[in-house]
Amino acid sequence: MGIDYQERIPNNVDLSDNRRLQRALEAWQPGFQSWWAEMGPDEFQDKEVFLRTAISVEKDGWANFGHVLMPDYRWGIFLAPAEDDRRVNFGDEKGKPAWQEVPGELRGTLRRLIVTQGDTEPASVEQQRHLGHTAPSLYDLRNLFQVNVEEGRHLWAMVYLLHAHFGRDGREEAEGMLERRSGDEDHPRILGAFNEKTPDWLSFFMFTYFTDRDGKYQLASLAESGFDPLSRTCRFMLTEEAHHMFVGESGVGRVVQRTAELMRAHDTEDVRPFGAVDLATLQRYLNFHFSVSIDLFGSELSTNAATYYTMGIKGRYQETRIDDDHRLNDALYSVIRHEGDDLVAREESALNALNERLRDDYVKDCDRGVQRWNKILRDHGIDFELRLPHRAFHRQIGAFADLHVTPEGRIVSEAEWNAGREAWLPTPADEAFVASLMQGVTEPGKFAGWLAPPARGINGQPVDFDYVRL
Ligand SMILES: [Fe+2]
Ligand SMILES: [Fe+2]
Repeated sequence: MGIDYQERIPNNVDLSDNRRLQRALEAWQPGFQSWWAEMGPDEFQDKEVFLRTAISVEKDGWANFGHVLMPDYRWGIFLAPAEDDRRVNFGDEKGKPAWQEVPGELRGTLRRLIVTQGDTEPASVEQQRHLGHTAPSLYDLRNLFQVNVEEGRHLWAMVYLLHAHFGRDGREEAEGMLERRSGDEDHPRILGAFNEKTPDWLSFFMFTYFTDRDGKYQLASLAESGFDPLSRTCRFMLTEEAHHMFVGESGVGRVVQRTAELMRAHDTEDVRPFGAVDLATLQRYLNFHFSVSIDLFGSELSTNAATYYTMGIKGRYQETRIDDDHRLNDALYSVIRHEGDDLVAREESALNALNERLRDDYVKDCDRGVQRWNKILRDHGIDFELRLPHRAFHRQIGAFADLHVTPEGRIVSEAEWNAGREAWLPTPADEAFVASLMQGVTEPGKFAGWLAPPARGINGQPVDFDYVRL
């Protein structure tokens, strides 16, 4: 299925056959464009950027590269191809045909899920809007903008579902997406991590590694949905999301590499005098971004999550590859609970524990990248390992929110925790130091001194390519 680029809104959903929907989306479009102008990347809107644009949703067909101005980016509505005879694959409706329209009784719940997901997309663009000025290279600047335009498109994806399937409520929610602002006291974005600041590029790499990966797991579980348009939308979004996590993993990896090189060259752990980030500071940034990102999965035990599952609207990660009854009525799942001064594993209803299960899948995935960063350290002969903090560390949501837990998973008093805080989380001094490293580098092929160049360029281009034409 191709994408019609002749339309004002590129799409593969036959928008031209649905005049009502087309008019609704065309009425929303100017608001999106003014949001992008106001809250998208600060400046650079008149510069050509080497961007990937979808021209088909088929395998290998959706990544078309060329220099474009960001305001001219072809945001549009792309759904993964329909599967023949797709079924609801889990929950009480398992085995019935997947729904092409929203079942009446699921309307409010589905709308809330779509709005919550959709709200994160423009939020991250807002969080990242000032980063262009301090990009460590043109290569990185281009990657930032690629992430930004695709998050803009993900907003389109969710807004399409709201307009196409939720009537007037959907239209109002679509407007709301353009009205909330990340970090705004009166009209914040819906989820906590999306109201935090992304003030520097180390935070950006950590964000795209940890927080975009939350997006991957949320999208993957919505891709299992019995509501077929949501499933198809999320499946296509996941193809784009992979690049965001690549930006994060390779970005942190390049910081680790430069730090390791300097540690070796100068035989010291203190690489700050040489203009790089010491490993202890990297660990503190990692602790922060991991802990705010795992909060996004919600409470360990959740009757909402159970309801989403039994209703067939939000599945588990890779639901159809799991070998069980896909109903979970009598199934158990091991969840870490707090008992006295201990954190212990307890069997709980698998239905109620679905958030925790998804968080487990996420944590395992996070750890794989951390191990690859550690391999870089090992390859440089450095005896230090970055580690994910314990899941109970620094939580705002769920059963651990009221506890004080160290990164190793030990419950301590508030006083002890406060005394440890500056060893565990970025301090104002860390942030000031990282900020001092953030000097924009705009000459093709040149990189800031606090990170290594990438191993290769984008889409077969050399590293010194003019990824952004300034
Ligand atoms: Fe996204
Ligand atoms: Fe993303």
